[in-house]
Amino acid sequence: MAFREPIDLIVRGGTVVNADWQGAADVLVRDGRVLALVEPGTYRSADTRGVTEIDASGRLVLPGGVDPHCHVGFTSGEFTSLDDYRQATTAAVFGGTTTIVDFAIPRPGQQPADVVAAQRAKADQGLCNSALHACVVEWDDTVPEQLRSVVADGVVTVKMFTTYRGETMADEKTILNVMTTLRDLGGMVCVHCEADHIISDVQERGEAAGAISACHHADTRPELAETASVAEILAIAESVAAPVYFVHQSTPEAVDLVARARSRGVRAFTEAVAHHLVLDESAYAGAHPERFVCCPPLRSAPTVAGLRDRVRMGQVATIGSDHCCYDTAQKESVSHDVRAMPNGLPGVETRMPVLFSELVVKGGLPLGRFVEALCANPARLNGLYPRKGVIAPGSDADFAVWDPSLTYEMRSAALHMATDYTPYEGLTVTGRPVTVVVGGRPVTDAGRLLDPTPRGRHIRSGALDRALVC
Ligand code: URP
Ligand code: ZN
Ligand code: ZN
Repeated sequence: MAFREPIDLIVRGGTVVNADWQGAADVLVRDGRVLALVEPGTYRSADTRGVTEIDASGRLVLPGGVDPHCHVGFTSGEFTSLDDYRQATTAAVFGGTTTIVDFAIPRPGQQPADVVAAQRAKADQGLCNSALHACVVEWDDTVPEQLRSVVADGVVTVKMFTTYRGETMADEKTILNVMTTLRDLGGMVCVHCEADHIISDVQERGEAAGAISACHHADTRPELAETASVAEILAIAESVAAPVYFVHQSTPEAVDLVARARSRGVRAFTEAVAHHLVLDESAYAGAHPERFVCCPPLRSAPTVAGLRDRVRMGQVATIGSDHCCYDTAQKESVSHDVRAMPNGLPGVETRMPVLFSELVVKGGLPLGRFVEALCANPARLNGLYPRKGVIAPGSDADFAVWDPSLTYEMRSAALHMATDYTPYEGLTVTGRPVTVVVGGRPVTDAGRLLDPTPRGRHIRSGALDRALVC
């Protein structure tokens, strides 16, 4: 029997791709949510006035991307990245991402819960929804109550750092305490792992040898600093039976440590980020090494190949952007000393198209696995599933209608991020989002912004318990 209920929008004729299913289906939307997936051409209604139609013939219909790692207007040292929620989410939507997870990172003297409240208040400026990771730097008696209140308000993940001493670095006992507290609250710690004592020693030696500028960046943060820190944090998580998520893992060794721990029953998860899967340290020998300064740094070509293998083997749960919108002038101003540089690369807009091209088109990654790592798992591990990350009845009507065969060159001039460069300048890319729908409304189409109305909201993450069963 034909489906006849009234709808607002229909996406006709495409191939719907979820993590665990793909096939030809028309997608029916009402009130911002998916109402049903139906056999192509079978929807009948007495009244189709006011129904928006999107012709997706020959195209893929992907769930809107969920970027689990996106810094918006992020202050580190003396630098603040250059975007606000409107700019970051506009760029996200142009790149097929319809949910971002930003960070509320305290500056010295600030309280984690206050920073969460301040950052959450910005979400309404966005063109799409957003969620947040909190951050704890120092332990004191107020932290348990602050964590209880942020989790109750729907922020269930807390980023912690084992590097950036004097800024955001937390000591191991603080990490253990936060892990234990969050374990009991249904949340999870997300850790940036680079052993700071190893890095600072290597950097001191680099300075003495006159090798501390942007072109030396990869050497100043060695792989073994990441390996050592991941091993330590895994041991803490295992000891207290807490879940743990490793952000931006950049080496196969680090991913393998997590996979081995998972096989012992530790609830441990790997996030990779786009630039570690696509670029390598040869970028630091180019004309603009400063543009590629991020932590962990870009690694050697064999390391990149090993990390890609881990994606193919299913050991990488999520792939984020680690978007940080600094521009060339900010990066150049201190490029003689990497210790003073603003770290991070712009990428919220390029994450999905570049990875579709590199992993699916060139690398043969199954489409369902791409959707799993860029949409479904980021939603799951941030307590947003099945509202986000899947096209299914009841989920938010966030889609990227995707042309899988269009080939073009990535150019910064055609992007919307609040900076003057992309690390992928000139890269030949195949596949791009054509029409992007947010909450049932087409927001971009064929490179045009159709609807600049900021309808984004902060969304509360649910408890993670069920998502964290390995
Ligand atoms: O280089 C990076 N990753 N900058 C952003 C902050 C962080 O460590 O995630
Ligand atoms: Zn980090
Ligand atoms: Zn980051």
